[in-house]
Amino acid sequence: MQDKPIDKQDILKELEELHKLDYKYSDGRILGSMCTEAHPFAKEVYFKFLDTNLGDPGLFKGTKHIETEVINSIGELLSLDEAYGNIVTGGTEANLMAIRAARNHARKYKGIVDGEIIIPESAHFSFKKAADMLNLKIVEAKLDENYKIDVDALKDVISDKTVAIVAIAGTTELGLIDPIEEISKIAFENNIYFHVDAAFGGFSIPFLRMAGYDLPVFDFSLPGVCSITVDPHKMGLAPIPAGGIIFRKEEYLEVMAVDSPYLTVKTQSTIVGTRLGASSAATFAIMKYFGKEGYCDLAENMMKNTRFLYEEIIKIGYDVVCRPELNIIAFNHPKMEAGLLAEKLEKRGWKVSVAKCPVAIRMVLMNHIKMNHLKELVEDLKEIF
Ligand SMILES: Cc1ncc(COP(=O)(O)O)c(C=O)c1O
Repeated sequence: MQDKPIDKQDILKELEELHKLDYKYSDGRILGSMCTEAHPFAKEVYFKFLDTNLGDPGLFKGTKHIETEVINSIGELLSLDEAYGNIVTGGTEANLMAIRAARNHARKYKGIVDGEIIIPESAHFSFKKAADMLNLKIVEAKLDENYKIDVDALKDVISDKTVAIVAIAGTTELGLIDPIEEISKIAFENNIYFHVDAAFGGFSIPFLRMAGYDLPVFDFSLPGVCSITVDPHKMGLAPIPAGGIIFRKEEYLEVMAVDSPYLTVKTQSTIVGTRLGASSAATFAIMKYFGKEGYCDLAENMMKNTRFLYEEIIKIGYDVVCRPELNIIAFNHPKMEAGLLAEKLEKRGWKVSVAKCPVAIRMVLMNHIKMNHLKELVEDLKEIF
């Protein structure tokens, strides 16, 4: 740090120069991210709540009420009358809380000390972080030929050390939904905690189902589901950071509670201490602003774009990995390795990512990707072909 204060204008100029190095969502070139530009109204509200701290809710009773309302609204979307949980920094923290709840619950009620979690091969890497931090062993459940959890393989890896089973509603690489109803039944029958990671799909599957899309049930209407991750900062158009963890019962928060002596509340169950109220306020605002109708339109629009791209790339000869269930497409050139194709697309300004399972170009069609961007992309894909 320099000794003397610097003029605001000079600081802003330096920051703007650096900001220019960032890709912008509005350019329509970011195709490998599950984040997007937050809605302007959500950003406006976010700034108003920047100084609120939900780590000390007795000081911010109004903002705590807002968080509770948001958790209840998301819970209602997920077929839960009374929801418990928090707005956190993102899917990683939400998954960490779910696995911590499962571990502590199994320790308290079943005496499991060296537990295991069963996750699909398609799970987000946040579960590896959670297992590492919580000292749990990861057991991977194999996928079937459709890249979804193979339910028989899952049954085979359940043991008396299993503290949680995880399934995904909107996988990170392919946007697919695991057979959650079947897994819920297995988890329920075996009295095992079942967490659904709908970080990506949670803000679109309910709305697509309302709009008549034939997508499976993945929520608390299934009795085995104990918690669900749903991220407002992905498909919900809330500003980063906004993840959501919803629990079926309050006891899952209680088993994580530690004493918080100097604060206005006696205990705390979240991972983070001081935490933003702005994320809850912005999510509250955007959910009210859109309503179910607005989110249905949004989700449907992204699916229309996805269908357009899917049909176009097949027409020009690319091999698509699977029929998209949500707004993610993965595909390969029949004669070019995915890494090389990604490089060629990058040279033309497209920021794509390469999926690992299976290896393929992966594109996430978020709200910032418009039809004109897709038409340009198809032209580039034709030329590369
Ligand atoms: C299914 C799923 N879960 C969890 C996460 C982690 O979310 P975050 O990056 O917000 O921590 C992601 C991120 O893409 C995801 O796709």
